[in-house]
This record gives sequence, C-alpha cells and structure tokens, in this order.
Amino acid sequence: MVIDVLRATTTISWALKNGADSIQVFADLDLLIESANKWNADERLMLGERGGKKIEGFDLGNSPLSVTKKVVNGRRLFMSTTNGTKSLQKVQHAKHLFAMGLPNRKAVAEKIISLQSENVLILGSGWEGSYSLEDSLAAGALASYLVLNCNLEVNIVNDELQAALTLWNFWKDDILKCLKTATHGKRLTSLGNYDGDFKCCSELDCLNIVPTQVERGVIRSS
Ligand code: MLT
Repeated sequence: MVIDVLRATTTISWALKNGADSIQVFADLDLLIESANKWNADERLMLGERGGKKIEGFDLGNSPLSVTKKVVNGRRLFMSTTNGTKSLQKVQHAKHLFAMGLPNRKAVAEKIISLQSENVLILGSGWEGSYSLEDSLAAGALASYLVLNCNLEVNIVNDELQAALTLWNFWKDDILKCLKTATHGKRLTSLGNYDGDFKCCSELDCLNIVPTQVERGVIRSS
C-alpha cells in the first residue's frame, strides 16, 4: 500500500474514477517519455510534477482536479512525480499493491479486509526521503478503520503506525487544516492557489475505487 495524500495517489484515484484506462508510473522521466511515445498521442497523456510544478512539455501537472472524465476517459496515463510514483516503483514486487489517498481510504480498507491479508505494509511517500505529516495522517486513518471494522485482530506492530493513529485521532475533525499545516502543504501554497487541490485531497471516503497494480508499474481500478 502506497500513500501520497498531496497529491499523487489522490490524483491516481480520481483519474481511474473518471475512466482512465490505466496509469503507468515512472521514477525516470526519459523512460516515461520513451514509453509514452510508443503510444498514439490520442490514446495517452503524460502527467507529473517536480517540486510541485508541472513538468515542461507534459499534458498535465499532478492536480487531482485536472484528471477530469473529458480529459482522461479511456486513456493510458504516463505519470511521474517527485515521491509518489517513486514509492510505487519501490514496492512493485508486492503480491498486492494498492494506491491510497484519503478519498478512497474506506474502499482500500475494505479490500484489505476482504483479502484477509496477514501483513499489510503501509509506505508513506514523504518528501524526498523525509517524513510527511499528511501521509502519516492517512496511514493512521487506515489503521483506525481496520481496528474499528475488521473482525480479525489488528496488531499495530510499530511505533510509526501507533504515532500515525494518534495523529489521526488528533486531526480527524480538521483534515484540511492538517494538510495546510504540513510542510508540503506550505510548499504548494507558496507556489500559488491550491485550495481546490487541498479540498479534494482532504475529502474522506468519497471514492469507491481501489487503484491496483495489475502488472509491474501499471495500475488499474479493481
Ligand atoms: C509527489 O509525488 O511528490 C507529490 O504528489 C507531489 C505533488 O504533487 O505535489
């Protein structure tokens, strides 16, 4: 399970909800462009950011508001972001790999419960190797849902997740404020008006979609 609340896994969830055929994730931009160019231009889009800014020459940045039905329906999205897509690549060998944001927390949790998974690895993408408040918040939100709704015993096996659960209980009634308090939230705010993105990324359990890796680096909804 990979989490990148601001904004990669939220964008992936909304793109699939809006009918994107699939999302292929990349850490390397040259590899992305080479792979995308093997597809007809009208069947694919290139999206991504670096430092929160849209990559020059790409069709879209990384805003969950930009992946509308009109834009993405039926297309393959070639995506690269600073952290989220790198995290997805790091754990692409996992038996089951899902991408989670806050909008699809419940859908992903129910998927985990249905799989009766014994071990669940939660990878928060953070920012360039450093901790991120918003990804930890979402990990806590997932753990909280599993503890409250899973009929199997749920063991919180490390202090990182225990701290995330505490963080969730503290911020769960003001998620938007938590996202704007986070370092990456402040980074986005310094780049311009991202209020729409903040609102979209802070919405909880509004998307019944489970972005699932179907082959190495390729994600579809399941
Ligand atoms: C990331 O992958 O680092 C984030 O999604 C960056 C962003 O979109 O602001």
